[in-house]
Amino acid sequence: MAVIIEPFRIKSVEPLTFTTRSERKEILKEARNNLFLVDADKVLIDLLTDSGTAAMSSRQWAGIMNGDESYAGSKSFYRFKEVAERITGYRHIIPTHQGRAAEKIIFTILGGKGKSFVSNTFFDTTRANVEYSGAEALDFLTPEGKIPHLIAPFKGNMDTEALEAYILKRGAENIPMCVMTITNNSGGGQPVSLGNLRETAAICRKYGIRFFIDACRFAENAWFIKTREEGYKDKTVEEIAREIFALADGCTMSAKKDALVNIGGFLAMNDEALALAARNLLIITEGFPTYGGLAGRDLEAMAQGLEEVLEEDYLRYRIRSIEYMGEKLTAAGVPMILPTGGHAVYLDAKAFLPQIPPAELPGVALANALYIEGGIRGVEIGSLMFGKKDEQGNHVAPPMELVRLAIPRRVYTQSHIDYVCEMIIEVFRKRDQLRGYRITFETPLLRHFTAHLEAL
Ligand code: F0G
Repeated sequence: MAVIIEPFRIKSVEPLTFTTRSERKEILKEARNNLFLVDADKVLIDLLTDSGTAAMSSRQWAGIMNGDESYAGSKSFYRFKEVAERITGYRHIIPTHQGRAAEKIIFTILGGKGKSFVSNTFFDTTRANVEYSGAEALDFLTPEGKIPHLIAPFKGNMDTEALEAYILKRGAENIPMCVMTITNNSGGGQPVSLGNLRETAAICRKYGIRFFIDACRFAENAWFIKTREEGYKDKTVEEIAREIFALADGCTMSAKKDALVNIGGFLAMNDEALALAARNLLIITEGFPTYGGLAGRDLEAMAQGLEEVLEEDYLRYRIRSIEYMGEKLTAAGVPMILPTGGHAVYLDAKAFLPQIPPAELPGVALANALYIEGGIRGVEIGSLMFGKKDEQGNHVAPPMELVRLAIPRRVYTQSHIDYVCEMIIEVFRKRDQLRGYRITFETPLLRHFTAHLEAL
């Protein structure tokens, strides 16, 4: 097979800054050993997130100049609305400044004490928005999704049996919404099949529970359906996307991922009364319903990005580039979630550093080692992000200890990725020397963003 090349050429470049190993050691110490607290210009290859980090196309930049900045009824809103309606099929399209603003609105309306929300896996901000409303958030990930090395096509799926059993036990009247996250970010960027979406939708319909899609990476998920699920290879990605959205009652979207923009999001749904309540909250917190916390130019870029993300040359390159990284690392014996997902490589820190128990944050140890070794910034998704304490104050670890290396869209080339692989393999060679960390400062919600850590 011929090499799959980047389906674009580069028109504008941004220089990288290099630091030395001893500088990085000092920088990390000053940042209290928390990579979120390291300044971006001290990072060489920033794989902290694929969110809001995309390179926009020349057409998106042209859209920026065409943005209509009218407060009400802007032309750019209607262009965005037309594209979002075409892809999702939902009647009400409500722009927000990013995904969590859409979440905040929907969970404020539907949440509250005594309510439970269910999902294949809630992403951290989504879970936090549910919990902040006073409700609880429960995950029902397919058992396959919990085994890092198991090769299966749709490890992001919902465990529909467990979901239904829970609904019967809890009572559907206490469950205002079921959310399917595609692709399943916290579960490894793994896709959800249309078969599983259909089953979940049927369960929700049977019990009268609203079904929403957390659609941040819908196009990547649709590409996996096209290439992995029986019966979809001849459908276009757009047709598959429409089929996904048609199964649900609405969606929340962080446009910072699969709409290829640096800021933006939306909330969409069919329910008229819910949309009215959402628009009322939007006006208080985000802005008038035809701009929702964004500039008109952002709406133009988002509309254009939603069209570009469905181009198959782009998706083929995108998914292949993650797979390429996974293959290189696997050949060197580096443990990770397999198969690789849509937007990131998830290193398995538990298998990488078996000498460090979950309570001593193996994911942090690995992420920090990658920074010191090569100036690479990834993110821990493990005991720091999701760990809890039981009544005795003992550490309760989440099922997996991961380091996510998220690949920004259209930003890094193959040689950047080759460099990243070399650095990971170098750390893997020296893995016996790594030690854990302990937390010296934390906040009650989303502690990983601001925690201070001390090397053991
Ligand atoms: N849902 C999922 C699945 C996400 O991955 C994110 C963000 C959000 C919702 C919230 O969207 O950032 O626009 O408010 N994920 C980013 C990440 C932050 O790094 O994975 P947002």
